[in-house]
Amino acid sequence: MPEPLDPALTRLKPLLLDTEGLVRAVASGRRRNAHPEPTRAELRPVELREGRRLQITTTDGRTPVTRNYAGEPAGSAVDALLAQPFGNWHVQTRDAIVQLRVTKRGEAQVHVESQTVQPVDAAHDRAKQHLIDPADPLFTALGADAAKRRQVDAFLRQLAPIARRVKPADRPLRVVDLGCGNAYLTMAAHRYLATEIDPEVRTLGVDIRPEMAERNSRVAEDAGLTGLGFKAASIEEAATDPDLAGVDIVLALHACDTATDDALALAVRWQARGVLAAPCCHNDIQRQLQDASATPFAGLTRHAILRERFADVLTDTARADLLRLLGYRVEVVEFIDSKHTPRNALIRAVHTGTAPTGRRVAEYAELVASWQINPALAQRLEPELAAVLG
Ligand SMILES: C[S@@+](CC[C@H](N)C(=O)[O-])C[C@H]1O[C@@H](n2cnc3c(N)ncnc32)[C@H](O)[C@@H]1O
Repeated sequence: MPEPLDPALTRLKPLLLDTEGLVRAVASGRRRNAHPEPTRAELRPVELREGRRLQITTTDGRTPVTRNYAGEPAGSAVDALLAQPFGNWHVQTRDAIVQLRVTKRGEAQVHVESQTVQPVDAAHDRAKQHLIDPADPLFTALGADAAKRRQVDAFLRQLAPIARRVKPADRPLRVVDLGCGNAYLTMAAHRYLATEIDPEVRTLGVDIRPEMAERNSRVAEDAGLTGLGFKAASIEEAATDPDLAGVDIVLALHACDTATDDALALAVRWQARGVLAAPCCHNDIQRQLQDASATPFAGLTRHAILRERFADVLTDTARADLLRLLGYRVEVVEFIDSKHTPRNALIRAVHTGTAPTGRRVAEYAELVASWQINPALAQRLEPELAAVLG
């Protein structure tokens, strides 16, 4: 039930100032037609030589500023933050998680969840284990569960070094997430890149389902994320979208079946410098293996479960080989433990423009000939491959 905002905010003050009980708090997002300054604030207790302090880190979206407070100045600093038109407050204490969201009518929607956590070890910075704090209200706004937060964090760890490497010197970094779905990754990546790598980063999420673009745009606006947009389009349609030419990094997290191939093909066509694709189901090659008249090592494809697993390996091997032939340096890595998602392989590629060696070309030719397959990615990139392979 919505309630008046001011008393609800006043109730947060003692929680924020209690450095024995507070675990951490984040203020973010913005109220309708309002712009908080700073755009985000994070509060937590820290143990310093002079004693326990309330540490407040604020950012204007570009530069974080950290200050430590005690006594009266802590109270004034908290008052000043509570007076800012943030859209969300997420306060985690030893006993509870309190979430306060400001509704469109300017009322407070407060949710309190009881919990028991160990006393705060302020010297041990647990938040540093995550690139984006799992308690970030952004995830709450997105409705992401713990498994999704972990997955997104693991993906960001792979993205970070590539983004640093490919960030253009003369213009903002441009990123597209193809098959973005609920945009957990899109928004987390955008927030991370804007905070750590390029405050001017432009990110676009593309999904074939129109309701996704609508919902994601709303969540992004509520969370105060700027430079981020969403498009309802198929990946194939995105190929000719003039807004998307010149993208630096292509992301695709669990884009269904051959949608991953669509994403990889686009990355090649755009000559995106960085590509990170964690494939999902692999039906295309599985079907081709089933139809093949004779395959080497027939036992590998005789039983459905083995055929399925083998098709996964064969599909991603062919994808990696094709990217290499087309001038990418490619690694295929496990980006997260399989207990979090069975779809945990990541194709990570950086464009170098290096021409393939004869050996690489022969390896790929032998692979597809032996298994009688024509991978979806090869079909999409026929002209580009013809130019390389002759
Ligand atoms: C399994 S979901 C993954 C969503 C998101 N990347 C994530 O990891 O949470 C796959 C998404 O790809 C989208 N999709 C599938 N085929 C597509 C295509 N050809 N073009 C654009 N989006 C597509 C679906 O609508 C769906 O939202």
